[in-house]
Amino acid sequence: MAVLEIKRYPDPILKRKARPVEEINGSLQKLIDDMLETMYDAPGIGLAAPQVGESIRLIVVDVSAREEEHPLIVLINPEIVYTEGKVDSEEGCLSVPGYVSTIRRANRVLVRGLDREGKPVEIEATGLLGRALQHEIDHLDGILFIDRMSPIKREFFRKRYLRKLKKT
Ligand code: NI
Repeated sequence: MAVLEIKRYPDPILKRKARPVEEINGSLQKLIDDMLETMYDAPGIGLAAPQVGESIRLIVVDVSAREEEHPLIVLINPEIVYTEGKVDSEEGCLSVPGYVSTIRRANRVLVRGLDREGKPVEIEATGLLGRALQHEIDHLDGILFIDRMSPIKREFFRKRYLRKLKKT
């Protein structure tokens, strides 16, 4: 296993729509293991494959440190099939280090996908898990949490963030 480099905004891969996984093979299993190691090393509660430079539909989520009833989730080709309600909460992203913002998301989601063995799974989630799943699936469509901020907040963010990037 290896800790991979996490791509940061404004890396163009983060804006790209990722392609579906077509084959569950050894190299995919290795990528999953490396993504888990990278997520725990960061540390973070979720990671999407485009964040480590692989533009494919694969996410890992582990919120067990804060919602211990939920085990580690690995999802291949995840899809949100149902949403209900709206809730505002603060979130951040490993690809946008140092920033958090209040983002409105669905309160409840039903997500379908495949686990790492290729078995179909269905997850119904609210709370932090529901939010993390929506955030990571957004990554597969090239959407960052900053894209869900109001236009005014996003403009302020861009100026501050890009100014800081230039300095480092
Ligand atoms: Ni993120």
